[in-house]
Amino acid sequence: MSVRTDFPADFVWGTATAAYQVEGATSEGGRTPSIWDVFARVPGAIADGTTGDVADDHVHRFLDDVDLMASLGVNSYRFSISWSRLLPSGGEAVSPDGLAFYRALANALLERGIRPYATLYHWDLPQELEDAGGWLERGTADAFARYARIAVRELGDLVTDWITLNEPWCSAFLGYASGVHAPGKQAGSSAAHAAHHLLLGHGKAVAAIREERPEASVGITLNLYSTRPASPSAADVDAARRIDGLQNRLFLEPVLAGHYPDDVLDDLGERGWFESQPADDVRTIAAPVDFLGVNYYSRHTTAAGDADAGVVSANPGSEFVRFIDTGAAHTQMGWEIHPDGLIDVLEQAHAYAPELPLYVTENGSAYADAVAADGTVDDPERAEYLRLHVDACAEALHRGLPLRGYFCWSLMDNWEWAWGLSRRFGLVYVDYETQKRTVKSSGEWFRRFLVGDGA
Ligand code: FCB
Repeated sequence: MSVRTDFPADFVWGTATAAYQVEGATSEGGRTPSIWDVFARVPGAIADGTTGDVADDHVHRFLDDVDLMASLGVNSYRFSISWSRLLPSGGEAVSPDGLAFYRALANALLERGIRPYATLYHWDLPQELEDAGGWLERGTADAFARYARIAVRELGDLVTDWITLNEPWCSAFLGYASGVHAPGKQAGSSAAHAAHHLLLGHGKAVAAIREERPEASVGITLNLYSTRPASPSAADVDAARRIDGLQNRLFLEPVLAGHYPDDVLDDLGERGWFESQPADDVRTIAAPVDFLGVNYYSRHTTAAGDADAGVVSANPGSEFVRFIDTGAAHTQMGWEIHPDGLIDVLEQAHAYAPELPLYVTENGSAYADAVAADGTVDDPERAEYLRLHVDACAEALHRGLPLRGYFCWSLMDNWEWAWGLSRRFGLVYVDYETQKRTVKSSGEWFRRFLVGDGA
């Protein structure tokens, strides 16, 4: 079992959240709707029928929430900026209230010695930009770079560390293929165009940020999955290749190696479209970054699907793959718990860019927490999940990987996208009726780990 002193003294220890999942106050201060405000109102889109209108009411309670973070002993906080709170309608005019909120948040963090890591895009495209075609349109990449430039101009005196995109795989394929996330489109393999425009937006944003604030540190966060075949059969191995390709390599390779994986473009039937894009795009996307953020939750075990069965699926290529339940322990999301997979994905990323610092920008687990009669929330499974993954980070360092930080998802329970309020990931329990926060026993474990007196 690792202890904090197994890690360098300057290791970044944080918790993470995202704007739409915690902020609430969706109609205040000039903020306009994002695709999630609209999608959450589509009947049946959200498991429990809730929206992020209030969520954790963080816009009004952020000072208390920053105090909570300080009490946990973290030295960093990863949050995201709501594009349409800072720039209503996705235009170029800064909302004074929106800016005041993010400046106040950053100042409160700095006053408590907590380093802010700001994500520019955690899935909440201004609805006007979706109405103009969203990420299927190239122009959205330019709009994103303009927004990035303004955000860094306005906040870069307080925030040094910037993440362009969070999990572009989700934005592209859950948003535009399966349609289980906003904007809920089912555009088949054209969802890959969204992936390209997201990555292009990332590359253009990196350039804009560097121009605006040369001292800024900028990276991107990818959600990577450790992937293995269920058997050594050629068909199962090919299923693993497909998923590793679509999930990991389609993003890692353009960003870190300056090219797309041909096999994945062929799987998607999109090689022609990609080859018709300006040749400069891949160079733009491969703009050097200062770090890579990795979100890791689980691993996939894959077997060949039955393409001939005529499975109609909104996810391109999914008829070729079945995900196997190995019977291993899993969280309430059904995600297998496999801490060593975190090392696998860090090693996979590291192989492309041996000098590049790595951060785990999200890792965490959902469980059905309950408040006991005495008001406490005991969540030993989450504490164990956390401990196992922190141990994996120690092992990654031991193997020489340039891991610089770990952010637990999440600081507090929040609005979990298509699951609404029905899935809790927090180290802190939130009573959504009263907005009362209660540190769970996993949060206490993290605090003990961080203050270094054993756990
Ligand atoms: C990630 C998201 C984050 C949260 C966790 C559980 O994919 O980035 O917002 O939903 O999963």
